[in-house]
Amino acid sequence: MNEIQIPRRNNLDAFWMPYSDNKYFKSTPRMLARAEGMSYFTPEGDEILDGTAGLWCCNAGHGRREIVEAIQKQAAVMDFAPTFQLGHPIAFEAAARVAEMTPEGMDRVFFVNSGSEAADTALKIALAYHKARGQSQRVRLVGRERGYHGVGFGGMSVGGIGGNRKQFGAQLPYVDHLPHTHLPAQNSFAKGQPDHGEHLADTLENLVALHGDTIAAVMVEPVAGSTGVLVPPKGYLEKLRKICTQHGILLIFDEVITGFGRIGKPFGAERLGVTPDIMTMAKGLTNAAVPMGAVATSNEIYQTIVDGVPAGIELFHGYTYSGHPLASAAAIATLDLHKAEDLPGRALAMEPYFEEAAHAMQSTPGVIDVRNMGLIAGIELEPTPGKPGARAMEVFRTCFDKGVLVRVTGDIVALSPPLIIEKPHVDRLFGTLDEAIRAVA
Ligand SMILES: Cc1ncc(COP(=O)(O)O)c(C=O)c1O
Repeated sequence: MNEIQIPRRNNLDAFWMPYSDNKYFKSTPRMLARAEGMSYFTPEGDEILDGTAGLWCCNAGHGRREIVEAIQKQAAVMDFAPTFQLGHPIAFEAAARVAEMTPEGMDRVFFVNSGSEAADTALKIALAYHKARGQSQRVRLVGRERGYHGVGFGGMSVGGIGGNRKQFGAQLPYVDHLPHTHLPAQNSFAKGQPDHGEHLADTLENLVALHGDTIAAVMVEPVAGSTGVLVPPKGYLEKLRKICTQHGILLIFDEVITGFGRIGKPFGAERLGVTPDIMTMAKGLTNAAVPMGAVATSNEIYQTIVDGVPAGIELFHGYTYSGHPLASAAAIATLDLHKAEDLPGRALAMEPYFEEAAHAMQSTPGVIDVRNMGLIAGIELEPTPGKPGARAMEVFRTCFDKGVLVRVTGDIVALSPPLIIEKPHVDRLFGTLDEAIRAVA
């Protein structure tokens, strides 16, 4: 292996780190320099067990040879080609592979470069669809409290995490939010889908009563991830689906986290038995080896928009890098791996063991809730009085220093390991987390 250069402290200034405490990091850097299988390695060579698949994205594990080679090969064959009014075979092939995994009838795939772009693209497609079918009054978008749909103006506005919005003033107009589905009094320590909360979908009926036929779409994550793992109550998504269908509203699932096997099926839609009209994806699509996202729509949505104009460009939307050759190559290799290794099936098979390990944390002092589905778990800690988020951040740092990467949001520890995780990794992940929580108590 090549010698790894450790950046000098005075080299850390230029990179303005995203979603980070820049001042703290630059005074106490924790660096990752290499990754393989279930692990990262620091520049000093210390192994860190990856309990988060990077950022919910390296579902097939790190450094997969098949993906690396596909990217290398494609870079040598054709580095870039535009997809505006031109095409390259590999982008079409990647789209066809995605369409093989999406629910039946959702076979049209628009490529983007991130989850944020996927969210904004999905919202724009929803608006364009209604306009194309003569319902241009449908301009309202409905999200959900505690939802995360990335950082573009659309996804930020429809998203429901106050902390992500309050710095930026102007939001999209005509946006409403459903209540979140977190009911700790009734549902704490539920395994999988909680029993209570189906009725929370009824709020959509109230919005319809208020706004009539001006709602274009409702966008939710099947399992909310970034807000700290909120699993949908039994019957809730089914009810949302029913109300949307009744009132001509499109249902968008943001599957950026739940896609590609994370909850034991190719997509959350399949696991949860509810088919949306549009779904967004990113992260696991290329195993994060090259940035790529996508939006899959029903054939009807595609056909309505495309048939909506007699000739010429049908949708005035797209990115220079939509269907980028390297990303397309990475996606094809990743989806081949998903099939060959049945990664969703592996996640499903590991779920009971992972679930037991997660719920065993109930006896760790300071743990006030545990939630889980597939290979996602949220462990909620009692906040330190007057210092929200401080306790979990300390747990994150302690875990890292003990050789395990976890993710925290507020006072919730979120775990989402690569789907290739084995039982000894699960034991180490939760064992170290338990030690860290006790250490910072
Ligand atoms: C559900 C969901 N949507 C959108 C995004 C945004 O993705 P990106 O950071 O790739 O823009 C994320 C990122 O975590 C996400 O979890």
